Amino acid sequence: MIELFDDPREDKKSDRPAPQSLVKFRQIYQDALAGAGEEKNNAQRAKGKFTARERLSYLLDQDSFFEIKSLVESNCHDFGVADKHIKGDGVITGFGRINGRPVAIFAQDFPQLGGSLGLAHAKKIADIMDKALEAKIPVIGLLDSGGARIQEGVESLNGYGEIFYRNVKASGKIPQISVILGPCAGGAAYSPALTDFIFMVEGISHMFITGPGAVKAATGEEVDFDTLGGSRPHSEKSGVCHFVAKSEQDCFRQVRELLSFLPQNNEEKAPSETTTDIVDRPVHVLERVCEMDPKKAFRIHHVIWRLADDYGFFEIHQNFAKNVVTGFIRLGGEVVGVIANNPACLGGALDSDASDKAARFIRFLNAFNIPILTLVDTGGYLPGVAQEHGGIIRHGAKLLYAYAEATVPKVTLVLRKAYGGAYIAMGSKYLRGDFNFAFPSAEIAVMGPRGAVEILYSRDLKKETDEQKKEELKQKMTQDYSDKFAAPYQAASNGSIDEIIEPAEARSKIINALRILKNKRDPKQHCQCNTGNIPL
Ligand code: HXC
Repeated sequence: MIELFDDPREDKKSDRPAPQSLVKFRQIYQDALAGAGEEKNNAQRAKGKFTARERLSYLLDQDSFFEIKSLVESNCHDFGVADKHIKGDGVITGFGRINGRPVAIFAQDFPQLGGSLGLAHAKKIADIMDKALEAKIPVIGLLDSGGARIQEGVESLNGYGEIFYRNVKASGKIPQISVILGPCAGGAAYSPALTDFIFMVEGISHMFITGPGAVKAATGEEVDFDTLGGSRPHSEKSGVCHFVAKSEQDCFRQVRELLSFLPQNNEEKAPSETTTDIVDRPVHVLERVCEMDPKKAFRIHHVIWRLADDYGFFEIHQNFAKNVVTGFIRLGGEVVGVIANNPACLGGALDSDASDKAARFIRFLNAFNIPILTLVDTGGYLPGVAQEHGGIIRHGAKLLYAYAEATVPKVTLVLRKAYGGAYIAMGSKYLRGDFNFAFPSAEIAVMGPRGAVEILYSRDLKKETDEQKKEELKQKMTQDYSDKFAAPYQAASNGSIDEIIEPAEARSKIINALRILKNKRDPKQHCQCNTGNIPL
């Protein structure tokens, strides 16, 4: 028998020539690391984009990436794909850490066959998703791909099917994040759409089902890549994209920040942080909300910043359906999801897009054990033919469903208007809000005073022919109505509101309420009946 080591503790680099097997391995591995080679990599950089390996090194904690399946190659002999011996088949898969916590990750490498998805490529992504689900860690996709690999025909389409299936299986169990860093064409766009959050970078990210050429052929419309599927239309109009970044580096910073708010899986709670911000910090400035004419608009962000630890607010879907604001804050160090009407846009009214935006975020929060803070200031659902025909009933119902279904702690604060169906929808007691607070300026009623008077007293008003007298009558009736309903007291007396609070005490009351509710739900029990985060 040969002793392998003279001294079992010795571990220094040998001066002897490396054995043949090691030399061969190192050469093969170097080839894999080189990807498509410098010329194609430089062409990628010339488009203002990083290569897949560069992206991994910028996004992940330093030196934390560990790769698997780097030597997988395509088995497709049609059109000579396999003869090219592309190591890794155009996608890098593995694990790394972000903010010290493990994540699973895949990065499509556009310089290799346009990052196109063949069967081997798809199997690598599917494998990393399976491992992420087993390990209960988030999965991040860096997408930069011409879509289904044309040379592999139906095999590539089947590969997408495998990925979509896994997206759904993992939904609501582990956070799934898609970072679009190039083209994302055809049905390929549906994998990101099944994930929880989509990031895009200005100028380089494009998502569409049919590209400009196909659009022109089908409809005659002339449109460029950015106008059709860039970060702007998807963050402002379609709502497909949750976050827009100015550059790839800015994008990676945002991804890291988002992850700092998320638990690793649906069986954990979101990470707490120690804060020096005092729980009982008074927010006297919120008294201005009570001073204000209820018809005057203001940006709800000011209220959110004042309530949050260290004035920090990480907004989601910032450019889409701005009448509702969604995002993460910390309160007393704990992560909280905020849903807030924004009077600065459409007077905070709820429309179809806002309902979808809020409902999907609520379902995400519920899946991942994050408490919900709702700030209410809304005149109701947005009236109009376009809204009715656009399905406000169907979309608005999703919001009702999401609130009623959510079992995480729910705290609601009515600032000013809470009228009609929107009052019920926005985290009301009857959809099982746990603590429902109101400012003294809250108005909780079926509708606003002016509209109510016109309906209730239409006959009396019609009888009055003198216009001045009619106006005086209207004003008196409006005043009577306002005295009764443009206030939170009826709601407080029947228990619809748990407590009317001093605005200055809002932060401390909300944090205390959330602390009482801390053990409301055991994440482990909840996750057994978890239903996922379906795209709404
Ligand atoms: C195979 C592809 C490819 C693809 C690009 N390439 N897309 N190879 N299959 N789908 C290759 C090109 O042949 C080229 O190879 C290299 O990638 C770079 O492509 P370029 O066209 O030179 O780059 P660029 O000018 O930047 O244009 C990028 C692009 C364009 C906009 C993505 O390549 C394009 O339109 N590709 C086709 C997009 C598409 O229609 N995909 C199918 C979508 S349907 P060489 O060797 O010359 O470097 C789909 C179905 C999914 O995905 C269904 C799921 C259910």
